[in-house]
Amino acid sequence: MAIPRSEYLSAVWRDGIFDNKVVFCTGGAGTICSAQVRALVHLGANACIIGRNVEKTETMAKSIATARPGAKVIGIGAVDVRKIESLEAAVERCVKELGGIDYVIAGAAGNFISPISGLSANAFKTVLDIDTIGSFNTLKATLPQLIISAAKNPNTGTNPSTGGRIIFVSATFHFTGMPLQAHVAVAKAGVDALSATTAIEYGPRGITSNVITPGPIMGTEGMARLGSREAEKTGTAFKKVPLQRYGTVKEIADGTVYLFSDAGNFVNGEVLVIDGGDWRTPGSPGNRRSEYPDFLLDDSMARQKPASKS
Ligand code: HXC
Repeated sequence: MAIPRSEYLSAVWRDGIFDNKVVFCTGGAGTICSAQVRALVHLGANACIIGRNVEKTETMAKSIATARPGAKVIGIGAVDVRKIESLEAAVERCVKELGGIDYVIAGAAGNFISPISGLSANAFKTVLDIDTIGSFNTLKATLPQLIISAAKNPNTGTNPSTGGRIIFVSATFHFTGMPLQAHVAVAKAGVDALSATTAIEYGPRGITSNVITPGPIMGTEGMARLGSREAEKTGTAFKKVPLQRYGTVKEIADGTVYLFSDAGNFVNGEVLVIDGGDWRTPGSPGNRRSEYPDFLLDDSMARQKPASKS
């Protein structure tokens, strides 16, 4: 049966598809998550972004608010996703000021590069606490709001008003394993499992839960840390990517719009890999151990300066 053109135009890819919706995003001051939120605000949503650094988070909120005249974007800093109480307080403020939460992006992450031999038990645990426990805490703190939103916006497949959706931002490292990223790979495997379980457990209430895994994306901290060394050496790092380029934050934002829009109504429990096909190639970072011998043999890598906290 032919689908009328108007059904596409009215429901998806138009201005205002997220009018009167609220997105709550952890790690929202970071390069990728801020682009995801900016796209949703641009298309009508209001937003609450959560970060650890107060000034960075508030400045980013002001910047995102310029995406659309009249947009309300709150930046709540000094929130540590490892502590559920601090997230619950942020959720309370978001609901009070913006009226509820329809979409959640669990994007806060911690990352540094280190060989396994350079990871203390606490270093390993720290990344699991931020990525896995932090994602769980984000889900737990926002779940009552997601349930309310899903009930208000039944996911019938014909209702253009969607709500009660969560996206976890993960990585591809655990698909293959990745040198210097054991802690992150393990943490993100847990995040993927949490999303899949949420999809099954809360699907019957109309909630969708999916994962987005960005690949090498230009301008991110991760690329600065993991990509630049190789790029500096050869100037051709992007050639590993089947599409022969790095991705852009807009391409991650596009995936986010897709999953939260009516176009994503029936997508639940999935992992949307946005990496140009990178993880599948034999030359991708996951299986390129031979290119890291100096890193792997040199435990001094374990004491690289940590990234600035977002
Ligand atoms: C080995 C390290 C280390 C390093 C810290 N540790 N940096 N071990 N190598 N480079 C150890 C510490 O010695 C300590 O263990 C434990 O980790 C906790 O360190 P703290 O500094 O006390 O932790 P904290 O202040 O909570 O900082 C967390 C952090 C930090 C993860 C270490 O880097 C951070 O907050 N980062 C947030 C910003 C960030 O990384 N964003 C990027 C996300 S991108 P001991 O045993 O000494 O007590 C992303 C995608 C990656 O995740 C994509 C890549 C391509």
